Amino acid sequence: MHYAGRAQSNAPARVDMRSDTVTRPTPAMLDAMMAAEVGDDVYGDDPTVNALQERAAKLLGKEAALFVSSGTQSNLCGMLAHCQRGEEILTGDEYHVFIDEAGGASVLGGIMFAPMPTSEDGGIDPDAISRTVKPDDEHCAVSKLLTLENTCAGRVVPLQRIHDAARRGREHGLSIHFDGARLMNACVALGVSPAEMLAEVDTVSLCLSKGLGAPAGSVLAGPKDFIRRAHRVRKLVGGGMRQIGGLAAAGLYALENHVDRLADDHANARRLAERLAPHPHLKVDPDGVQSNMVFVGIPDGAAKPMQQHLADRGILINAGGPNIRLVTHLDCGADEVDLFVEEIQSFFA
Ligand SMILES: Cc1ncc(COP(=O)(O)O)c(C=O)c1O
Repeated sequence: MHYAGRAQSNAPARVDMRSDTVTRPTPAMLDAMMAAEVGDDVYGDDPTVNALQERAAKLLGKEAALFVSSGTQSNLCGMLAHCQRGEEILTGDEYHVFIDEAGGASVLGGIMFAPMPTSEDGGIDPDAISRTVKPDDEHCAVSKLLTLENTCAGRVVPLQRIHDAARRGREHGLSIHFDGARLMNACVALGVSPAEMLAEVDTVSLCLSKGLGAPAGSVLAGPKDFIRRAHRVRKLVGGGMRQIGGLAAAGLYALENHVDRLADDHANARRLAERLAPHPHLKVDPDGVQSNMVFVGIPDGAAKPMQQHLADRGILINAGGPNIRLVTHLDCGADEVDLFVEEIQSFFA
């Protein structure tokens, strides 16, 4: 998601639909953060970080996990721990690691990306993987890693598609990394466990600070030897942090309390789409809403004036072009959806 800049306004924000990253910790989460036992995590001494890592590894069905500062850092540590210079990562051309992470694996790791077409459903066709893997030829980079993503721009990639792509990658000798920034949204939407979703992948990054509502942090999970390498990479990129038990406590709280409620975000996104669909100037398909994101086609030239009109009424959206993304989350429920619909009607009126 590219940032479209914030409209200037003095109105207090009443509704923020820019992303699910904008949530503030709930009072109960803040209590958990305040109560956290802490220690120096670079020494491995922070008991709350250790508890989060153990909890996350178990939940994700992997041997070990590492707490990192962000989703970008998590994917970066993962890619650098999987690949050496001159190796190559196969990924979707719409996937975050390829378009939205400043090319970190290439910049810092000398690793190439081989983008493949992202399918309508957000998945990757197994045959595209077979076509893209390089032969064992001195002219070519060495194909090493396949990265998948779910959800992908709000789309929930079906379980079978994830498994099929991962198996095909494995047949070609690739390791498999899964960008699960919104893994829990996908799991809740499909009614499957994270371990089931991740059964065919080696490593996974899960964000705690998106729909799950923690103020920061992601976990990277995988085999023990991989996590040992990722630990070194985390240090290399300046991601070794000290008394961060408070943040880990927020993550633990989110895993315990904010997973099942993602279904509410999905229902509210659907409500939003259904209420916008009859509007003559807007194009939106309620049946296309699969998780917490709604994409709305708006008239040419409307993006900036609409963004300003809404900002003046305390409603924040990202509006870069003729298709805007609206996101529901912990701080954007049914009341906020209804307020948004009213104000968008006032714009067109
Ligand atoms: C699919 C996906 N992966 C990774 C990230 C990176 O997360 P962060 O913003 O915490 O670096 C994002 C952020 O929006 C994302 O949407």
